[in-house]
Amino acid sequence: MSHASADDYRPGLEGVIASETAIANIEGADGAGGLEYRGYRIEDLAGHVSYEQTAFLLLHGELPNRQQLREFDARLRQARPIPEALVELYQRIPKSIHPMDVLRSSVSVLAHFDPDANAAPTDHAANVRKAERMIAQMATAVAARRRISQGLPLVAPRADLDHAANFLYMVHDKVPSEAMRAAFDLSLVLYTEHELNASTFAARVTVSTLSDIYSGIVSAIGTLKGPLHGGANEEAWKVLERVGSPENAEKWIQDALARKQRIMGFGHRVYKTGDPRATILKTHCRALAQEVGDDRWERIAEPIEQAVTSQKMLPPNVDWPSARLYHYMGLEIELYTPIFALARVAGWAAHVIEQLDHNRLMRPRARYIGPPHRPVKPIDQR
Ligand code: CMC
Repeated sequence: MSHASADDYRPGLEGVIASETAIANIEGADGAGGLEYRGYRIEDLAGHVSYEQTAFLLLHGELPNRQQLREFDARLRQARPIPEALVELYQRIPKSIHPMDVLRSSVSVLAHFDPDANAAPTDHAANVRKAERMIAQMATAVAARRRISQGLPLVAPRADLDHAANFLYMVHDKVPSEAMRAAFDLSLVLYTEHELNASTFAARVTVSTLSDIYSGIVSAIGTLKGPLHGGANEEAWKVLERVGSPENAEKWIQDALARKQRIMGFGHRVYKTGDPRATILKTHCRALAQEVGDDRWERIAEPIEQAVTSQKMLPPNVDWPSARLYHYMGLEIELYTPIFALARVAGWAAHVIEQLDHNRLMRPRARYIGPPHRPVKPIDQR
């Protein structure tokens, strides 16, 4: 293997191929193409197969047949309840702590209660079982913490509801309408996987030391939280609120760009001409806005999109429409990024397992730009 030279340095690892993967493909060398999960276009998955089927595809490599889906679904539903110790912890963690920080701690705690806790980190079958439990339990954990922090009684998971409906039910103590359930399910499918984004990379780096899958997911959650990544869906909502009216959009964006401010929910490291996930979600945002009888945010979002596109040539990314979609579902802003995480956990887990199945320690180099070699002076001569 040849050694990298200092000339190979690419800030932010832009364009660097750091892994091989059979999980997701962002088509087209310039990122202008679409997105596929294990060879299936997301346009053919979102709205056509459920989150459960998508998670199975990512973890097991193929879409499930009826029996496989029935069994997978049963395992998820059975794994939904979370340990009492975690609920007690939620009662002690200050209410002001952001749900994303609580989720990071939650996954660490869940690790201790996993029946496969002591399995070897490279045990493929145990990792798949752990992944399935995390998919089921992270949803319960996010909903439970939210209810406790709001002083509301806990709502136990319901085994007769699918993953999407059950999450909304546990948050609101109300079974969602079919339109809400379907839109939420679709958003989870779109958020499930996205190749070597920062959080997935963090998870792969973590387990490349032969650390365990839970540690990989904890690293990923901490990485997702930042506003340049998953945290952008919360920030995108704040942009809508600050703009406040369609008439204000163009001027607000102009002023923000003049101050070199980033408009959250726009731009992408790989997609330079448009994020296919945003295109799909936008249609569903409009439909859901109609369903709830409130098109105000759609009317504000449109001129913002036009202004950012015309003034900076930046198309919206997935986090731009998802903020509105979750608002229409009555979900608080602080739940937007945890929802991203509880969808993405299937993708993270698939990558962690792929990494551990073909592991090589991730250990890049840095170009040194500090002072040259120098002697250590005795302390009273410094
Ligand atoms: N608003 C204003 N200017 C922007 C934005 C933005 N959202 N994104 C990029 N730019 C500008 C940037 O300032 C730079 O301008 P100039 O050439 O005049 O200095 C130019 O575009 C290139 O920016 P870059 O930082 O080299 O681009 P990048 O590939 O590193 O950025 C990004 C990718 C996602 C970090 C960036 O677009 C951004 O900060 N977007 C806002 C945060 C966001 O929405 N993140 C979600 C990403 S998608 C899903 C997810 O991961 O959650």
